[in-house]
Amino acid sequence: MRPSLCLLLLPVFACASEPPPKPVYSTAEAMPHDELVARHTPHGGGHHGHGGPLVHRFEKAEDWAKEFDDPARDAWQKPAEVVAAMRISPGMTVADIGAGTGYFEPHLARAVGPSGKVLALDVEADMVRYLRERAAKEKLDNVEARQVGLADPGLGQGTVDRVLIVDTWHHIDGRKDYAAKIKDGLKPGGLLVIVDFTMEATKGPPKEHRITSAAMIAELEAAGLKGEVIQETLPDQYIVIAKKP
Ligand SMILES: C[S@@+](CC[C@H](N)C(=O)[O-])C[C@H]1O[C@@H](n2cnc3c(N)ncnc32)[C@H](O)[C@@H]1O
Repeated sequence: MRPSLCLLLLPVFACASEPPPKPVYSTAEAMPHDELVARHTPHGGGHHGHGGPLVHRFEKAEDWAKEFDDPARDAWQKPAEVVAAMRISPGMTVADIGAGTGYFEPHLARAVGPSGKVLALDVEADMVRYLRERAAKEKLDNVEARQVGLADPGLGQGTVDRVLIVDTWHHIDGRKDYAAKIKDGLKPGGLLVIVDFTMEATKGPPKEHRITSAAMIAELEAAGLKGEVIQETLPDQYIVIAKKP
């Protein structure tokens, strides 16, 4: 790493003699520095490592697709198990926040069926472009891709049965306020399902940007959602499910 880039990335990566654990997706090192929007929020709740949320850009969807849609991912991401845990019924409306390249969309589209709806939401315009093209190509007629703001998933009040957030919660800043917006968007009894990396996992973001399940539940409860860790067989991640009362 060039010294200047090292300095630039200091808030995100320690740049110490010991390299950070290899993220599952390429990170800031792969990005031109002007694409990096890394913010350091040292007091981000005090529940995770030192770094706070890892806020950075995910442009160039085709590049990310190589990692997000790598067929080898299925072995550890276990999308069928994740979607089963969401207890989706046909006809439901499901929002996938931080949908990326749409890895979960075929699974969610099948679960809600033709009478249901999948809202594939992402902050990145290029991801949304890719999601739309993917939905058309794969004939996922019940998937609607939308670009959303960093701090607001833009859900209509009480309109959504399920919200899925995979490998994305640790990227979100101001999570308590964000959780409150999700709560507003959920129907009564609706579920928020979050999948993220454990502290012990050998893949995932640098450890200082990870969040424990206990810290996540505290953030959700502060927003009025009752969360719990569920039993699963994912090797590197945990699943938290929170219910809107
Ligand atoms: C690591 S990727 C995960 C993609 C997808 N969930 C998956 O499992 O393949 C994180 C995605 O979340 C998006 N993202 C980051 N912060 C976001 C926010 N505040 N709101 C919506 N999307 C966000 C990024 O643009 C990126 O596409």
